[in-house]
Order: sequence, then structure tokens, then C-alpha cells
Amino acid sequence: MREFPEKFKKRMMNLLGEDFQNFERCVLTEKNVKGLRVNTKKISVSNFLKINPYNLKKLPYNADGFIFNDENIQMGGEVYHQAGMFYMQEPSAMIPVNSVKIKKNWKVLDLCAAPGGKTSQISNALANEGFVIANDIKFDRCKALVFNIERLGLDNVIITSSNSESLCKNFSNYFDMVLIDATCSGEGMFRKNPNFIETWSQKNIERCCDIQQMLLLTAAKTLKKDGLLVYSTCTFSLEENEQMIAQFLSAHPFELVEVDPKIVQNTAPGYAMNNEYEFSKMRRFYPHLHPGEGQFVAVLRKIISDGEEFCNCAQNKKCEIPNEVLAFLNSVGVSIDKDRLFIKSNKIWIIPKSHVILKNNVVSYGVKLGEIKNDSFVPDHAFFMAFGLEFNNIINFNGDEQKLKLYLEGKSFNWSCKNGYGVIQVNGCTLGGFYAKNNYVNSLYPKNLTNKDIFIKNE
Ligand SMILES: C[S@@+](CC[C@H](N)C(=O)[O-])C[C@H]1O[C@@H](n2cnc3c(N)ncnc32)[C@H](O)[C@@H]1O
Repeated sequence: MREFPEKFKKRMMNLLGEDFQNFERCVLTEKNVKGLRVNTKKISVSNFLKINPYNLKKLPYNADGFIFNDENIQMGGEVYHQAGMFYMQEPSAMIPVNSVKIKKNWKVLDLCAAPGGKTSQISNALANEGFVIANDIKFDRCKALVFNIERLGLDNVIITSSNSESLCKNFSNYFDMVLIDATCSGEGMFRKNPNFIETWSQKNIERCCDIQQMLLLTAAKTLKKDGLLVYSTCTFSLEENEQMIAQFLSAHPFELVEVDPKIVQNTAPGYAMNNEYEFSKMRRFYPHLHPGEGQFVAVLRKIISDGEEFCNCAQNKKCEIPNEVLAFLNSVGVSIDKDRLFIKSNKIWIIPKSHVILKNNVVSYGVKLGEIKNDSFVPDHAFFMAFGLEFNNIINFNGDEQKLKLYLEGKSFNWSCKNGYGVIQVNGCTLGGFYAKNNYVNSLYPKNLTNKDIFIKNE
């Protein structure tokens, strides 16, 4: 059996007292808990449950969230995953976003967003009235973020790859909510990734604290008065959690907010370090007490306004949209407000309804509609995924496994349908696009996704 590093053990014993043994047994001997969240942009929970092949149990604090009853997930839902019906997410990782009641028209910044679990949760809650800027410093991790947002068909997400200092300079008194899901020492992930146990060190905690301090500092100014700062980590160390928040509160005009009552019922209070702050408003999720891995969350409200609202973004000028693009939209029967169409270097984007166009380090302006290549328009997979429901040419597979397999392998097949572009759906959820001529369907499923066992990929 593995063992905890001696120093970590002492720290946890101080924190948990008699409960330490339960914690130790649970983390070192039990299997981690897996969960999924239904993507309500694509399918309702009730419709998903009608076709769901898994043995799932509902979570008490997330109407769309479930845990797998079996330790080993049985196969069967891979194609539903590829169609963006759900996102594999740790049950505890749903806690930070579920801690607040997000209003549909909010402007949200998700500062450390890759690979996008919480971004997609926020996007679902905004239901296309507001928008979320999802940022991550690591461009490579942003690729996974783009992949997930596309697969889920979300059209209210802007993706940037920037460090938080440069990004936050672009905003002041602007956001209704900023989520800092901070890089941390990952003690809460020991059960899921036992390798983290070997690499644990006090030095790493200190390194993470420096980053977290900087993240909080830069994010604070971007929030408007009454805006909410949601801070979360997947670690247990006091320095990165209660102490970090107490230090921040001592120097900034913010107050602690009570989290959603359902989260209170399913978490433990923060560790009371002194009488100065209401530490019980901060919440801890322990693997030996709750089904899931370790998590910490604190929600803070900004209590002053420090100036005018500012966003260093461009207004979408009325662009000359090439006729081929308009003809394409017309032919597939999808209508998009002209002022949501934005062109940059031959690429055509559908920006969120807020019309925000950021200027720097943008990875995705919204949904990529397509690209002009050699004078002709080539629609993008992201467009099919986000707007597939509105298409007038749909092939819906419910059980034709053979044809579905061919489609996912990027191969062509015969099918009686209209000529032109259309979308393939599985149980009413879009998997991707096709081009048909004379009942011969050409798969437009992206080559980089074909035959990939994406489901196994760790989100
Ligand atoms: C815990 S992960 C985020 C998980 C994500 N929120 C989710 O739910 O899928 C932390 C992320 O913070 C990013 N990060 C670290 N330092 C950063 C910085 N200074 N600015 C922006 N992102 C940063 C890391 O690259 C990493 O992807």
C-alpha cells in the first residue's frame, strides 16, 4: 500500500483530528469516483436518461450531474459523448460553479479554464444570453478547451490564451462573475492520480501560493460592484485555501458570501483559523465524507466600485459577408443575426450575442462558421455542432450502427436525402456535417477525430 509523505500526514492529522484515519484509508485504498454532467445545450436530462446506457446515480447538488455507480464504466455511450451529450466531470469539480446562482445575462471570466469542465457548466447556466471568456495560460491546454467547447456545441464562449496579468488589464469593473479555478498542489487528487503523492512538497505549495495570490490580485479589479469572485482549488492545504482567502480579504474590498444551501449540505465548513473571518462560509469537499475527490471553494462579493466599466474590446463593424457564406446559410436554413458575423483573416466567426470581440491572444472568437479557401467557402465542424438543430437537412441515426460507423470513420455511404450540406445526428444530437449528392453522403467528420477513443480521454 502507498503511504503519504510524513509531512503531509502531519498536516492532515492537524486538520482532521480523529477523522484522519478514515481519510487515509479512503484515499489510499478506495477507487476514485467518476461523474458526468449532461450538456443541456444539446439534450435535456430527461431525454438523456431515456437513452443513457450507464448505471448512474443523481447528484444532490447539481440537477444535471450524476455519478457512476460502477467503479469501471461500462462502454456504450461513446457516440453520445462524441455528439456532446455529456461531459465527464468529477462530482466535486461541479461544486464551485454550483455554489452560485448564475443569472442568464451575466458576463463571466473563467480565468484558468482548460480543459473546460467549469466553462461548459457556466455556459449551460447562461443559456446563450450572457457569455463567458475562457482563458488558460497554456496554449496546448487551450486546444483541449477548444475541442470540448466545439464538441458540446456551445456558442457563448470566447477562448483566449494569456497569462492572467495581461488578460485582466483589458477589463475593469466589468464582470458579474470571475472564476479562479486555480492551479494548486493537487492534494485532493491523490486518490485519482497517486503519482501526485510522490511529487508532493512544501516547496510546491509555496510555488502555487505565489500563482494564486497573483491570480486573485489581477482578477479583483475586473469585477463590477456586487460581482462575485469564485475561488476554488483541488487541494487541502490551508495556505492555498482559507489562509489565501483571509489574506486577500484583509487587503481588498470583498466580503464572504454564503454558498448555495445544497452545497452547504454536501460539504464541510472551512477550517476556522481565527475569529476574524466567517471561515464556515468557505467549503471543503473531502473524499471520505462525500462521493468525489478533494475540493475547496470560497465565494466573495466585491463591495465597492472602483471606477468606470471598461473593456478593451472592439465593436463588431458591419462586415461585408461574402455571398458564398450567405448562400450557404440560406441553403442549410440557419439564420444568424448579421451583427454576430465577424471576419478575421478569411475565417468567419459567429460571436456571442453580447457582440464582444477581444483584441489580444484570442484562440476562438465564438463559433467558427468556416473559412474562405481558394475563393470557396468551407464550413467548419464547430458550426455543425453548435447550430445543427436548425438545419433543414438532417440524418438522424437511432440504431443504424453500420452507417454511423462509416460516418465516424470519415467514409461515404448511400442514403436517401436532399443534395447539399446537412448534419448527422444521433438521437437528435448533432455529431457533425455531411455533403450529399444524388443520395451519396460524404462524411465531413474531421479527420483528427475519426477513430479516436475520445471517451477514454481524461477531461
Ligand atoms: C485546475 S486547472 C483548471 C481546470 C478547469 N477550470 C476545468 O474545470 O476544466 C488550472 C489551470 O490554470 C492554468 N493556469 C496556471 N497559471 C495561470 C495563469 N497565470 N493564468 C491563466 N491560467 C493559468 C493552468 O494551465 C491550468 O490549465
